[in-house]
Amino acid sequence: MQRHLLTIFLAATAASAVTTPFSFPSLPDLVASPKTPSTPFPLSAARHPSKICVVDPEATDAGPALISAARECNNGGTVVLLPDTTYTIASPTDLTFLQSVDVLILGTVVFSDDVEYWQTRAFGYPYQDAHLFWKFGGRDVNIYGLGIGTLDGLGQTWWTAKRSNETLYRPILFGTDGLFGGSVSGLNMKNSPFWFNVIMNSSDILITDINIWIEVTNSSSPPANTDGWDTYRSTNIVIQNSTIDNYDDCVSFKPNSTNIIVQNLQCNGSHGISVGSLGQYQGEYDIVEDVYVYNISMSNASDGARIKIWPGVPPNTTGSNSGGGAGYVRNVTYDLFYNTNTDWAIELTQCYFASSQEACNEYPAVLLVEDILFKNFYGITSARHDPRVGTLVCSDPSGGGNGRYLITEKGANSDTQVCKNIRAENIAVAPPSAVTAEWICTNMDEGLLDVNCIAA
Ligand SMILES: *[C@@H]1O[C@H](CO)[C@@H](O)[C@H](O)[C@H]1NC(C)=O
Ligand SMILES: *[C@@H]1O[C@H](CO)[C@@H](O)[C@H](O)[C@H]1NC(C)=O
Ligand SMILES: *[C@@H]1O[C@H](CO)[C@@H](O)[C@H](O)[C@H]1NC(C)=O
Ligand SMILES: *[C@@H]1O[C@H](CO)[C@@H](O)[C@H](O)[C@H]1NC(C)=O
Ligand SMILES: *[C@@H]1O[C@H](CO)[C@@H](O)[C@H](O)[C@H]1NC(C)=O
Ligand SMILES: *[C@@H]1O[C@H](CO)[C@@H](O)[C@H](O)[C@H]1NC(C)=O
Ligand SMILES: *[C@@H]1O[C@H](CO)[C@@H](O)[C@H](O)[C@H]1NC(C)=O
Ligand SMILES: *[C@@H]1O[C@H](CO)[C@@H](O)[C@H](O)[C@H]1NC(C)=O
Ligand SMILES: *[C@@H]1O[C@H](CO)[C@@H](O)[C@H](O)[C@H]1NC(C)=O
Ligand SMILES: *[C@@H]1O[C@H](CO)[C@@H](O)[C@H](O)[C@H]1NC(C)=O
Repeated sequence: MQRHLLTIFLAATAASAVTTPFSFPSLPDLVASPKTPSTPFPLSAARHPSKICVVDPEATDAGPALISAARECNNGGTVVLLPDTTYTIASPTDLTFLQSVDVLILGTVVFSDDVEYWQTRAFGYPYQDAHLFWKFGGRDVNIYGLGIGTLDGLGQTWWTAKRSNETLYRPILFGTDGLFGGSVSGLNMKNSPFWFNVIMNSSDILITDINIWIEVTNSSSPPANTDGWDTYRSTNIVIQNSTIDNYDDCVSFKPNSTNIIVQNLQCNGSHGISVGSLGQYQGEYDIVEDVYVYNISMSNASDGARIKIWPGVPPNTTGSNSGGGAGYVRNVTYDLFYNTNTDWAIELTQCYFASSQEACNEYPAVLLVEDILFKNFYGITSARHDPRVGTLVCSDPSGGGNGRYLITEKGANSDTQVCKNIRAENIAVAPPSAVTAEWICTNMDEGLLDVNCIAA
């Protein structure tokens, strides 16, 4: 069906101007499956089949061409990037005005690798110095590539440049800022300079059928920070049915990620599906809540399921950017997880970057971790920590000493228990030696953990 429509579409495009109505591959039915969001996604308004705006394939900078096609097709049309065409975006491209419009990417979108240029031009955000080449926002927007469309970040130039300046801004390949309702599907994404995707200030988005990978051409300048997806200040997001081959988190839930489903992913070479890090900044309040991670195949990774929380800081420390931030992680489930050659099948820590467990016990996390469930974990870890396969570490919950206050929505209270109801059920993960698997469990309620805890 897609091939047939594509043929008609190409013939029509070649033969006539955009004014003649013609067929083009419409948005496939996209469903969140098998898990569905607790709040159903809003319905997309009907698109006019003849309202099509082809992005000028001749434009030397595809940025302004894309913006003008989007303005023309806004409110019910479809913007089309033609197949067998390379579009180069060479200037910051603000697509946050979109309303009920689709963007069909059948060609390749490349981002200029003029490192110097983007330092001052990319859209910059204070959070982790995130920068974007382009940003999508608005309401009811479907960006789709039917497995053909490709985004290419020319990452190697950036990874090499990073070697001479560690703090150089490296833009994210795809980002939303204030996108309410819509989808991102069927895209190939390769060689991102930094994270592949960031979903910020957004809600009600289905992301499906994405293929992410990295090609290194200079092994002296390896990729860094190439997370698959990061969510931030966003709610009701589903990420599913995708393959991710990268060198950092497969998916990472950053502050204020709620109602997120991640399912049917194949992650390779990654740092796991991660909550956090959270609690890094004193004075900030980070929330990750109602997250369901289902059916993940994780290979050649440092971690499978991961939760990383910074510990507290000494009393009266001000402006610390290494822990002491408040908030909570609540109601997070990891269900059905297949490990192959992962260093830790599960790594939960409330002592992220603490110099020692003692230091962490002295100044425990002020960010609560509760109602966490790990269940149905299978597979074999790497030999790295054999016979240990997982690690579950909380700050000392026993209280005593300075600064041990849990900061809740209602303010500080004297409840010092910063880890609550952390469970592990049906965990069948073995080390390669096939001896009995061992787990590091520190300050945990071991009665809730169906694993073989050993003293650390
Ligand atoms: C995602 O995968 C599930 C299970 O394999 C399937 O039922 C569903 O149709 C897929 N969704 C899309 C949008 O491809
Ligand atoms: C490194 O990049 C940052 C961000 O563009 C810039 O502020 C800084 O001056 C650069 N450092 C050097 C040594 O060029
Ligand atoms: C999100 O929205 C807020 C309020 O409109 C704005 O200040 C912020 O820059 C936006 N982006 C991010 C990433 O928070
Ligand atoms: C490869 O990376 C190294 C280290 O950053 C750099 O010195 C060298 O110039 C790079 N080679 C090429 C062909 O870019
Ligand atoms: C898990 O995801 C894979 C794709 O990675 C899919 O083939 C399989 O059907 C899914 N299994 C379940 C139980 O949803
Ligand atoms: C998976 O990751 C490993 C380790 O990073 C890498 O060697 C391998 O090529 C990757 N596999 C695929 C299919 O890309
Ligand atoms: C997260 O949400 C809470 C509650 O609305 C808010 O107080 C806090 O500032 C938000 N944090 C971030 C990092 O946006
Ligand atoms: C926990 O999160 C799931 C979504 O992952 C949601 O369906 C459920 O209602 C939440 N439970 C509570 C008690 O809020
Ligand atoms: C894991 O890495 C090995 C060795 O690099 C590779 O052969 C294998 O294909 C990788 N697994 C996946 C799922 O890519
Ligand atoms: C922290 O500051 C408060 C208020 O200024 C002061 O009473 C307290 O002694 C200080 N604590 C430490 C350990 O310095």
